Amino acid sequence: MQSSEIFNAARIGGIALRNRFIRSATHEGMASAEGAPTESLEKLYVRLAKGGVGANVTGYAGVMQQGKSNFPGMLMIDDDALIPAYRKVVEATHREGAPLIMQLAHCGRQTRSAVTGMRTVAPSAVRDPYYSEEVPHELTENEIKAIIDSFVKAAGRAKASGFDAVQLHMAHGYLLAQFLSPNANRRRDRWGGSLENRFRIVSEILAGIARSIGDYPVLAKINGYDGMTGGMRPEEAVKVAMMLEAAGCSAVEVSSGTIAEGLSIMRGERVPIDAVLAVNFKFASIPKPLKPLLSRMLPVFAPKSPKPLRGYNLDVARVIKSAVSIPVIVVGGIHTLAEATEAIVNGSADFVSMSRPFIIEPALVKRYEEGRQEASRCTMCNYCTIMVEKEPLRCWNGRLANG
Ligand SMILES: Cc1cc2nc3c(=O)[nH]c(=O)nc-3n(C[C@H](O)[C@H](O)[C@H](O)COP(=O)(O)O)c2cc1C
Repeated sequence: MQSSEIFNAARIGGIALRNRFIRSATHEGMASAEGAPTESLEKLYVRLAKGGVGANVTGYAGVMQQGKSNFPGMLMIDDDALIPAYRKVVEATHREGAPLIMQLAHCGRQTRSAVTGMRTVAPSAVRDPYYSEEVPHELTENEIKAIIDSFVKAAGRAKASGFDAVQLHMAHGYLLAQFLSPNANRRRDRWGGSLENRFRIVSEILAGIARSIGDYPVLAKINGYDGMTGGMRPEEAVKVAMMLEAAGCSAVEVSSGTIAEGLSIMRGERVPIDAVLAVNFKFASIPKPLKPLLSRMLPVFAPKSPKPLRGYNLDVARVIKSAVSIPVIVVGGIHTLAEATEAIVNGSADFVSMSRPFIIEPALVKRYEEGRQEASRCTMCNYCTIMVEKEPLRCWNGRLANG
């Protein structure tokens, strides 16, 4: 493929994209208390669409209250009453020429009962290394079926709202990733053990969606690997991608890492310690006089991003791409035009997705296409990542004081 072809129209599962750049799912913290999209979210999606993205994936939307994020302002898709509000956002995005894909998620053990009001759940009663306050409740057969049903109903609501597709969040250590991972899934029944069993919840969701709403595109975001003992490895990720294709999935987006590994999903040179101390639930309530001491200690103990900091999912995406014929999307530290072009031209992926570059510059694709810019101004400071625990998404540009 020629380098300029990154700006040519392409398709995913019948959806027409005007180019090969996708805005990867990014929690915006801009939903109402009920999880409905707000005016500011609509404005953001319109800005992204006007700014030239090939397609936009929403921040993760909860399929049930039990699976709600620790971060406030999460989108929810657990109630038919939300459909009219979503319809408005979808129409506004479509008017600017970009498809809108809803990411569906259940956080499983990567959340807190203090937020959901319910005990956390997981495939097995194994404490999350980061959300370690409680041992999650091991899901029963009927509870697993209820979760499958919630994903299926959520996809139906997304379709009724006009979304072009849904994306199953199977990455970053959330519930579907917990089922896939022998680290979190110690079950000995038909939901655990062999890969086929660990994948069963996903195959039942896909089959359920196909049964209830027919031929509707379903994408999946998966981990190519993570850093957990007994977690996801590239060889297994390839098999997962092949199983997804066989089960009718329309495209696979390749990411990596879990919340417990610190800044491994979205990497950066440094952990923004002042932001962590200000808003992170583990530190926010620590008495003020202790904070200066902590701010000296934390840089030593906080887990550093693994290296490399750029293009860290390209290798595994390339292996996955050679094993499947559905489109492969790659995300993770691919921020410059040259990096994105190389990923496509070298055959690592069919599409490139970005998150942080669109926070600082929603119109980045247009600027790339018009030759006005060649690199994102994102410094990967990750203040955005930490601050969404308290405030709606925005670029902090490396300093809390900028707020
Ligand atoms: C503030 C923030 C929120 C995010 N929320 C989500 C999310 O809701 N769902 C998801 O799959 N990934 C989420 N991510 C991860 C990104 O989609 C992406 O995989 C990661 O940031 C690496 O890509 P980048 O280097 O282009 O930022 C989020 C990232 C950031 C910075």
